Amino acid sequence: MIVGSIKENTTLEKRVSITPESAKNIIGLGLKVYVEKDYATHLGINDDEYLKIGVEIKNSPNEIMNLSNLITKVNCPNDDEIKILKDKTILIGMLNPSKNKSQIEKIINKKIKPFSLELLPRITRAQSMDVLSSQSNLAGYRAVVDCVAQFEKAVPMMMTAAGTVPAAKVLVIGAGVAGLQAIATAKRLGAIVSATDVRSASKEQVESLGGKFLTVEQSEDMETAAGYAKEASDDYKKKQAEMMKDALKKNDIVICTALIPGKPAPRILTEDLVKLMKPGSIVYDLAAEHGGNSAFSEAGKINTINDIKIIGVKSLMNSLPLTASSLYAKNLFSFIRNLYSKSKKDFNINLEDEIIEKSLIKEV
Ligand code: NAI
Repeated sequence: MIVGSIKENTTLEKRVSITPESAKNIIGLGLKVYVEKDYATHLGINDDEYLKIGVEIKNSPNEIMNLSNLITKVNCPNDDEIKILKDKTILIGMLNPSKNKSQIEKIINKKIKPFSLELLPRITRAQSMDVLSSQSNLAGYRAVVDCVAQFEKAVPMMMTAAGTVPAAKVLVIGAGVAGLQAIATAKRLGAIVSATDVRSASKEQVESLGGKFLTVEQSEDMETAAGYAKEASDDYKKKQAEMMKDALKKNDIVICTALIPGKPAPRILTEDLVKLMKPGSIVYDLAAEHGGNSAFSEAGKINTINDIKIIGVKSLMNSLPLTASSLYAKNLFSFIRNLYSKSKKDFNINLEDEIIEKSLIKEV
């Protein structure tokens, strides 16, 4: 059986889905791996690195699509790629089915089995495959690094002979995987960190990282049975906005990470709230591609209002594609290992396995 991967459109996506390390592991399962010529040269990984561990390099995407039983991708294939995908192939990637409905329809019509890794259940057995966690974790780290680079003051408190510099204050909105990593990274840099979330379970996690949890008073807990956030009620939004007023006046950097699965990102910072921030402050909106947590956020742009920078993040993983690829490829290998039956020497789409059942897109 052959696992193949063609080049992504590298102007839009710098990550790859198979690294030499993951290819070695896939080959170790008894599978063959084919990648397109110059597959990862943009990351400084030459074809030789794949060749020396037994990967076959093919000159054209058509060849790979024709020969492979399973195709790995980072993003959903575009129309041209779908045209050359062979009927009945298995496709694995971050297919984002709610956004890519027309492509998914075409894929399903070709009787291809599309697995979208964002749909994996958040169960212990699936942790090694959890792309949302691996990529969000990096996003939380990178958010802080970017903010610090943009911020025109030092972050840690410094006591020098010339005088004392106060520590910068960082507020993190949404304390999921990205938010918690942002808290940890900002703390390591010496910032005074606070955070808020609709899920009261996150309070303990924020505090364990040394952050101060800002509770929206007299509010219900908005956590679903699956551990995700529910959409906030109007009453909650009002109380949250009240709580934010004071916090926004005090903080220098606000990192927004709040998301609700399958819904647009909650709009938490209205125009009036953003304008309460001090000149020189930064709003870094990781949710910008999902509509944004803040007013003035536009994905891929930095807008400046009253000398407050509102950074709308787009394709953040392109700024650390090597680490992001390494983790993504590891997630993908774990998924393939679970899908492949060594005894049958075939992929086994066992719908009784929750991991396989939940990640397989069956309809648009
Ligand atoms: P996410 O990326 O969907 O959302 C980010 C955060 O925003 C969440 O913590 C959410 O509660 C918060 N949020 C949503 N609306 C908000 C609002 N209006 N105001 C403030 N905060 C708001 O979340 P992520 O990072 O995917 O985590 C979701 C849950 O999944 C968490 O409980 C996490 O612990 C759990 N999880 C479980 C894993 C496992 O393997 N068991 C792995 C990773 C996460």
